[in-house]
Amino acid sequence: MNITKRRFLQTVGSIGGVGAVYRSMQALGMTGIGTASASQLSLPSGSGNGRSVVILGAGISGLVAAYELSKAGYDCTILEATERAGGRNLTVRGGDLLEESDSRQNVQFGSRPDLYANMGPARIPYHHRTILAYCKEFGVELEVFTNDNRAALFHNRERFNGKAVASRQVNTDMRGYIAELLAKAIDRNALDSEFTSEDKERILAMLEKYGDLDDNRQYKGSSRGGFKRQQINAGLKSGELNSPLAFDELLQSDFWIYKLHFDQFLNQNPTLFQPVGGMDAIVNAFNERVGTLIQYRSIVKEIRKSADGVRIVVQQPVMNGQTVVVNADFAICTIPAPVLVDIPNDFFKDYLGAIKSLEFVPAVKIAYQTSRRFWEEDQAIYGGISWTDQDITQIWYPPYGYHRENGILMGAYIWGKEPGLRFSEMTPQERLQAAINQGEQIHSGYANEIATGVSRAWLKVPFQKGGWAYSNEIRETLQKPDGPIYFAGDQASALPGWQEGAVLAAHAAVQGISERVMSA
Ligand code: PHE
Repeated sequence: MNITKRRFLQTVGSIGGVGAVYRSMQALGMTGIGTASASQLSLPSGSGNGRSVVILGAGISGLVAAYELSKAGYDCTILEATERAGGRNLTVRGGDLLEESDSRQNVQFGSRPDLYANMGPARIPYHHRTILAYCKEFGVELEVFTNDNRAALFHNRERFNGKAVASRQVNTDMRGYIAELLAKAIDRNALDSEFTSEDKERILAMLEKYGDLDDNRQYKGSSRGGFKRQQINAGLKSGELNSPLAFDELLQSDFWIYKLHFDQFLNQNPTLFQPVGGMDAIVNAFNERVGTLIQYRSIVKEIRKSADGVRIVVQQPVMNGQTVVVNADFAICTIPAPVLVDIPNDFFKDYLGAIKSLEFVPAVKIAYQTSRRFWEEDQAIYGGISWTDQDITQIWYPPYGYHRENGILMGAYIWGKEPGLRFSEMTPQERLQAAINQGEQIHSGYANEIATGVSRAWLKVPFQKGGWAYSNEIRETLQKPDGPIYFAGDQASALPGWQEGAVLAAHAAVQGISERVMSA
């Protein structure tokens, strides 16, 4: 702590006591990592009086920017090309109409509140503290989102006779075999140069527990992998263990490439959350606060720098499709790169280069309403993800609404480029059918369980043209203003494809504008 800060806090303490010191320390950013108790940005109130900011896009980033700036007195306008706020934060329900560039779908889900599907973001990791802070501040109720479920399935067409195998078996057996191998290597003194004999004993003891090895330190199966011909567990009389899956088949499968350790990725670690009733609860909360600042169906046609700020040319329905000009001191542009590249602008060429370099994932999601919760009834799968090497990539089971008569299943979540493009090119009807055929390989009788479905191919969504940027290499350029224009959206963060990235990028832009205004 430098001397002036210390003296300041001493003075505060002598007047206001411990509470006052703590609040001052908070304001000085001295209390360590931010807590999820409030948004972590606090512009001095009134500091934006008399200044205007035009925000391009009413997705999470734009909404956050408008919320924080308007609290500080800035005059904000949000230009949104579509008729709804939220951007990729999209929850669909019965009665909704989903439009893509060449198709329209009517969502025919039932009307119960749990019959919804998050077609964009669907999970929030525990350490995404800035978006979680807004959930807390706005009272958005959260529940646990289940990413990893040992009852869910791994499916590889070429392995195990094309039959899906339970995650509990894959996890247990893989671990058992690896423990056995390492124990063998140590037993045969292959690692003597690495360890003392005491260490060796300890490692062997650890491996026995880690892999559930037998007395000869061999892996012969484990109750951790479940039982045969029974309801998974031992039941009244412990039965026969499942035979271990063959090691060579496990090695030849694609499970271990990333699916088996998916929950180890920092952003996929438990605990993850979802808002109760749909991800758009976050959008609704922002809408209540800044909704009046949004001008819908306002398509940005030009982004220009003017003598004293920005000049945005917009096409608006109120003007019979004529263009109007919105002038402001600053702009925050959250328009996704694949859309932004085609908008005439005055950007410096470094910015154009950065924008062009952002390739987006052709992500696709397909959600079905089923006629019963067969995954729960037949296989005791409650939430989580089954994986397959087919194009659909994943099936997500709803981590809510358990034991109800039916539910919404995510029948595909595709993020690979080739499969994403294949599914994007199909008509909505073809997508539904193709994903049913593939789901049938994992759950036999699948087709008969499905009542209705809906798909979202983000590549084909007007004003989005993609899911998220592939690379999380920070586009430093986009984090610096181009004159009066600031860039935001998850694409301007090292967390592309996450709402946290959208929020952090908005905060950085807002902070940048505020510092500039306050030092002017
Ligand atoms: N956040 C999204 C998800 O969890 C998209 C994403 C996937 C982003 C993987 C980065 C990496 O599926």
